[in-house]
Amino acid sequence: MSDTTAGHTPVLLPQVLAALNIRASGTYLDATFGRGGHAGAILQNLIANGRLLCLDRDSAAIADAKSRFASDARVAVFLAPFSSLADCADQVEPGLKFDGILFDLGVSSPQLDDAARGFSFTQDGPLDMRMTRGSGVTAADVVNGAPLHELIRIFREYGEERQAPRIARAIVKDRESRPFERTLQLAEMIARVARSQERHKHPATRVFQALRIHVDRELAELEAGLDAALSRLAPHGRLAVISFHSLEDRMVKQFMRRHSLADPMYAGLPDMPAHARPTLKLVGKASKADANETSRNPRARSARLRVAERTTQGIAA
Ligand SMILES: C[S@@+](CC[C@H](N)C(=O)[O-])C[C@H]1O[C@@H](n2cnc3c(N)ncnc32)[C@H](O)[C@@H]1O
Repeated sequence: MSDTTAGHTPVLLPQVLAALNIRASGTYLDATFGRGGHAGAILQNLIANGRLLCLDRDSAAIADAKSRFASDARVAVFLAPFSSLADCADQVEPGLKFDGILFDLGVSSPQLDDAARGFSFTQDGPLDMRMTRGSGVTAADVVNGAPLHELIRIFREYGEERQAPRIARAIVKDRESRPFERTLQLAEMIARVARSQERHKHPATRVFQALRIHVDRELAELEAGLDAALSRLAPHGRLAVISFHSLEDRMVKQFMRRHSLADPMYAGLPDMPAHARPTLKLVGKASKADANETSRNPRARSARLRVAERTTQGIAA
């Protein structure tokens, strides 16, 4: 049987299910529903009194979730960003905690494949890139409106693009005569002025990644989401995060590490006060897709799964 759900193949699926350590009557949160590949598999492992909350900030993803799970009493679906995670949980039950929380970060295949969303540098579409349709600034607003130094910062910081100044200068020069409106207009201009830094990668890859991260405030959202997730994990609850680029992965790794260490102020003291004890315990090392999975699903090539478990620290028995 294919594991593709309406155009999105879930990555590291068996590893995610193992990481969440699913209890059949437990309460789980999939913070990145997408097309529900992971959510559907979690649900298959839950009995009638298990619960699954699904979040996504994209209305197309949530429409899909509602059409598939509207009649399933175990499922609650929210059109919301990570930063509203705790509010959504409270709507189901005030103070609700989870036995497992999954973040499968980035964009879904349907988002990338729909040229009208403006994420793709290989298909022509409006230069949009907003995951939440109709809300906030578009990539075109940024490309046409941001000052040179801001474009350089965005491309460097969020794309780790070494040719950021050269590309940003070319954008600023070109936009004076003709604003950027289309994805291919930008991608082709970048291909003319920049060399590809990695084999098999389009020269616009890093700039498109950077614009998406900026437009969708992806790093701020991830930070808010991880903090909210930690505050909503039940004792021994699992946090599983799949990231697709080094900026995200670094944030996730540092977050998990920081919360899995005791406060260094109290290091070596015989009696560690409760508030200084770690709130997370790391579970294994980061896992990657094997050759079998990457040959079936090239998108899995850059996926990294990190897992941590909530300790009982700071949670009333
Ligand atoms: C990689 S896809 C998830 C795919 C999903 N696991 C599946 O198997 O179909 C990531 C999804 O997360 C959503 N997303 C990304 N950042 C988000 C945020 N800050 N808040 C809510 N949803 C977000 C995107 O809209 C996208 O649908």
